[in-house]
Amino acid sequence: MSDSDKARLSVAVVDVVAGREPDFLVLAGRYRALIASKGYGRAEIVRDEGVPRRFYAVRHWIDAAAAERCHADAEVREITSEIHRLAKVSHVVHGARKPEPRHITFEDRRMRIESDRRTGFERRLENRGRAEGERRTGRDRRLGPRRLRDRPMEVDLVGAARRAREHAEAAFSKFKVGAALQTMDGAIVAGCNVENATYGLTICAERLAMFKALSEGHRAFARIAIVADTTAPTPPCGACRQILWEFGGNLEIVLANLTEEKGTYRLEDLLPLPFDRRLL
Ligand code: THU
Repeated sequence: MSDSDKARLSVAVVDVVAGREPDFLVLAGRYRALIASKGYGRAEIVRDEGVPRRFYAVRHWIDAAAAERCHADAEVREITSEIHRLAKVSHVVHGARKPEPRHITFEDRRMRIESDRRTGFERRLENRGRAEGERRTGRDRRLGPRRLRDRPMEVDLVGAARRAREHAEAAFSKFKVGAALQTMDGAIVAGCNVENATYGLTICAERLAMFKALSEGHRAFARIAIVADTTAPTPPCGACRQILWEFGGNLEIVLANLTEEKGTYRLEDLLPLPFDRRLL
């Protein structure tokens, strides 16, 4: 791409469920027409000739603001949630960022949020980050970004979730789950599900990991990996989606089982139209 530095590009790998290709192509056509008619940008679907039922969804945004508007557009969201019902969608180049390698994108995101240790919502509502030139506290320095900047994606988040899963207390369901959260400064905080004889007091792996992380002072999160011993991916339950959204924002969600990764999602796609404190 000649002007790739300026391009506002999103790319997703889309693996369509067997037998649903025609439906997917109809939805992709509607998506393309919609984002063109609303002036958000241009979308194209490229078939992978080497992998059955795999497509690449490439979106060229007019600019970053158009991409943002598109993500928030209810009509667009309706189509994307239909697509999610018949395909596994893994975002490989995110939103209106430069099409650079994944670790750079991750670094960009970390740089934006690192200075600001408020939880998901407050952080997004207004920019109250550290003032220009203001020194970081000793604690901030200790948790500083260098570790992550030097080896951004080296952390084995799925491995951490698998290890946490081994500690699950799942005597009633026998369904063991592990989760591992990666903070913006590169730390990993893991959790497992803990069940209880009253059943209702059970806590899922994801919420346990998040509450543990919050209790340790973490306030900015990048990703969460969730592992269960299932062939189909195990997505977070509704309660966990809400908690992850409130404290983690639009996290990247990696679903895996004991041997392989099953897909990467964005929390905003798993929790469309969320209720949150902006509505209070
Ligand atoms: N569970 C999780 O820990 N996370 C999920 O994403 C789905 C469900 C737990 C809760 C309960 O202990 C068991 O799995 C069966 O629902």
